[in-house]
Amino acid sequence: MAERPYIVGNWKMNGTRAMLTEARAIDRAAQRLMKVEVALAPPFTLIHAVHKEVEQIGVGAQDCHAAKDGAFTGDVSAAMVADAGAKFVILGHSERRQGHGESDALVAAKIGAALSAGLRVILCCGESLETRDAGRAEAFVLGQLRSAFAHVDDAAEKLTVAYEPIWAIGTGRTAGLDDIAAMHAAIRGLIGETFGEEAAGQVRILYGGSVKPENAREILALEDVDGALVGGASLTAENFLGIVHAAIGDDAV
Ligand code: PGA
Repeated sequence: MAERPYIVGNWKMNGTRAMLTEARAIDRAAQRLMKVEVALAPPFTLIHAVHKEVEQIGVGAQDCHAAKDGAFTGDVSAAMVADAGAKFVILGHSERRQGHGESDALVAAKIGAALSAGLRVILCCGESLETRDAGRAEAFVLGQLRSAFAHVDDAAEKLTVAYEPIWAIGTGRTAGLDDIAAMHAAIRGLIGETFGEEAAGQVRILYGGSVKPENAREILALEDVDGALVGGASLTAENFLGIVHAAIGDDAV
């Protein structure tokens, strides 16, 4: 695990202003837990409000458009989320790839847009159960990443990778520890090949998919797992902080 683990909550399409109390509670706890970096990605509508409420935690977006501006009704640009207070954006989440038909090329273009707007990127990758059962998980995930790296020069500073097997997202099913360890090591290897060994040591690789307070500790103890991208269990401060505590080997919540 990285020296300073990174625990990121992805609220997905959940949250109205009533949920700001959870963000505040997470932020207050994070102020006392400096050994772990904590961040939240609320929906677009709450980015500014969460940014105003918190002092310690990072705030990010869950997507942005690839274009700088223009006639794209309903879309939001990287500069807009940065202006609202986001410091990073999650890109290539499987729910975007599957539900919105986002291709590897589009994800790569979005990464370029986000980096140009000064945002850090959490780049998601992950295979379907069919691909895993066919024995092609590693080739598939590394292929997603190779294409996404096209627009990245300075990976060490700006990039985090999140490995999220699609079949483990929101299903209560986590990948086996051996499978997680093997995939994270392969991802680390590709980062080294692409950006050099120094970057490979610096880029954080998060695991995501049904991470909960109960299973976080064993997952986060794996060598190449530097943190977690958390969906369902990030919606309450209680669950999310259980994971944050697990990241620093602390049972108390
Ligand atoms: P989950 O979602 O923790 O609810 O499985 C993780 C994610 O999709 O980022």
